[in-house]
Amino acid sequence: MKGIGVLLSGGGSNLQAVMDAVERGSIPADIKLVLSDRPNAYGLVRAESKGIPSFCIDRKQYKSSESFNQAILEKLTDHHVEYVVLAGYLRILSPELVECYRNKIINIHPSLIPSFCGMGFYGQKVHQAVLDYGAKVTGATVHFVDEGTDTGPIILQKAVDVLCGDTVETLSQRVLEVEHELLPRAVALLVQDKIKVLGRKVTLEEGDV
Ligand code: GRF
Repeated sequence: MKGIGVLLSGGGSNLQAVMDAVERGSIPADIKLVLSDRPNAYGLVRAESKGIPSFCIDRKQYKSSESFNQAILEKLTDHHVEYVVLAGYLRILSPELVECYRNKIINIHPSLIPSFCGMGFYGQKVHQAVLDYGAKVTGATVHFVDEGTDTGPIILQKAVDVLCGDTVETLSQRVLEVEHELLPRAVALLVQDKIKVLGRKVTLEEGDV
C-alpha cells in the first residue's frame, strides 16, 4: 500500500473526506501520518480517532524555517510517506521539501486558480475577496505544490456559482462540499500514478475524469 501524509492547520474536514474515501476503498493507500502546525487543530483529533499517528510540529518551537521544515521532512520519512496532501495547511513548504516530493505534493485551494490565490489568500479571506470583487463564479482547485504560492500545475477544478445574498459562511460551505469531492478524487488518481505532468499541463488517465 502507498503511504500518504496529510498536513493541516485547522478543522480537517478535507482530511475527513480523504479518510472516508480510504475507508470506502476508493483510495488504495494508507494515511501514515497527519501533521499540524497548530496544537489545537481539530484535524489532529479526527486523525487520532482513527488511530492515525498524528503530531503537531509548531514553527514557534524551531529557531529557523530550515530546522522547522527539516523536522517535517524527518517525520514524513520516518513514517514512509510517499505522497503529501496539504488539506488546509497554512504554511509555505521549503524548496527543499518541495524538491524531495516533486509532483507528489498536492494542495486544495478554495477558488478557481489563478483567481483569488497566492500570498494572503487563505481560509475565509478567499471567499471574502470573491464577494468583495463581485465575481459570479468561484470554485475549488487541486494542484501540485511547487516553490510558489498556489502556482503549481492544476489537477482538478470545479466551479461553484456565487448566489445573490451569499455570505462568506454560505459560500465557503458550498465550496467546501466541492473540495470534499475533488480532493479524494485527486488523491486516488495520484496514488495510482494516473496523473501525468508535462510542464504546466496535467493529463489524467482516461476514464477517471
Ligand atoms: C479549505 O477551504 C481549504 O481549501 C483551505 O482551508 C480550508 C480547510 O478546511 N485551504 P478543513 O480544515 O479541511 O475543514
